[in-house]
Amino acid sequence: MKKAKKEKDLVQVLKGKLEKGKGVDIGTMFVKCAHKKGDEVIFKSQRNAFFEVEHTDFTKNILDNSKVKYIIKQDKLYVVGDESLQFANMFNKETRRPLSRGVISPTEKEALPMVELLVKSVVGMPNYKEEIVYFSVPGEPLDANFNVLYHMKTIEGFLKALNYTPKSINEGHGIILSELAEEDFTGMGLSFGGGMVNVCLSYMSVPVFKFSVAKAGDWIDQQVSMAVDETASRVSAIKESSLDLNKEGNLSKVESALSIYYNHLIEYVIENIKDEFDKARRMPQFTKPISIILSGGTSLPKGFSNRFKEILDRLKLPIPVGAVRMAGQPLRSVAKGALVAASADESKK
Ligand SMILES: Nc1ncnc2c1ncn2[C@@H]1O[C@H](COP(=O)(O)OP(=O)(O)OP(=O)(O)O)[C@@H](O)[C@H]1O
Ligand SMILES: [Mg+2]
Repeated sequence: MKKAKKEKDLVQVLKGKLEKGKGVDIGTMFVKCAHKKGDEVIFKSQRNAFFEVEHTDFTKNILDNSKVKYIIKQDKLYVVGDESLQFANMFNKETRRPLSRGVISPTEKEALPMVELLVKSVVGMPNYKEEIVYFSVPGEPLDANFNVLYHMKTIEGFLKALNYTPKSINEGHGIILSELAEEDFTGMGLSFGGGMVNVCLSYMSVPVFKFSVAKAGDWIDQQVSMAVDETASRVSAIKESSLDLNKEGNLSKVESALSIYYNHLIEYVIENIKDEFDKARRMPQFTKPISIILSGGTSLPKGFSNRFKEILDRLKLPIPVGAVRMAGQPLRSVAKGALVAASADESKK
């Protein structure tokens, strides 16, 4: 089949040296930006977190001198981004998050200026007026009672204020643009993040369906924490440092609970994908088995892709699946895909 024009443009962008445009991934845990310098894609990232400290002139001066990002609201001072973690560690407390389940948190009152500051710090100023920036948005959640419009419009506003031309891209679609050029941008992209799992099925770069579920890494931490009576942050630390989903015998209590909830999460996602196939009114003819790309922080433990394949073999999708593989850079593929979309648009200007 002849390649569609849009696809050709995208392939050119992946190969080319075009430096225009930026891609931003606004996640529950990290905010990341990708831009191109020569052949190289450069990433900038900030932790999407904050920590409240006592507001005195003395503290404010110290923070000003050390270029720590912060905001002041009434009598409160909040350290925002990467440094919030160091402050939290120092006081032996937890950071808080401006985003919850993939979107601006409705319960954190100061979330808006924090997200604005973080977006600004990773994206920087445009290289020229109205530079195109694509930012990721989650798909509509199937299992939670909110939509993503408010979140999307708010982020768009922040980027416009910086003189960018902002456009949104679905998080799963970003993975497809970043990882599936060889397969004509046909296949499925899955991002297992902190607040959400995002899924997009694409045919020749066009999304067929996309959705999110509001269960992911944070949910695993909470469930395991309740099951074994450990703090969620300790569970998360074990999960991030040493979990091996290939390991069969000799599991600690926490490892065994993590394994159970990973199984549940993967089953839940695959069942929801099957439901989307059932709901879809028109489905393109997939002539070859499709590839599935796994990405996101929650997909990082050893053995994750094997576990996913085992469960997929058991539950099965209604179309043939070829390779199931990890994204090249699982924590960066959404930002990179957003950059591909931005560069493609810039090249048409
Ligand atoms: N090595 C690791 N092993 C297991 N889990 C990890 C690892 N590193 C990070 N995580 C988990 O990944 C999640 C964060 O993933 P990611 O950075 O992809 O999220 P995000 O894009 O910020 O969030 P979202 O897409 O849900 O809005 C957290 O739950 C974190 O505990
Ligand atoms: Mg994400």
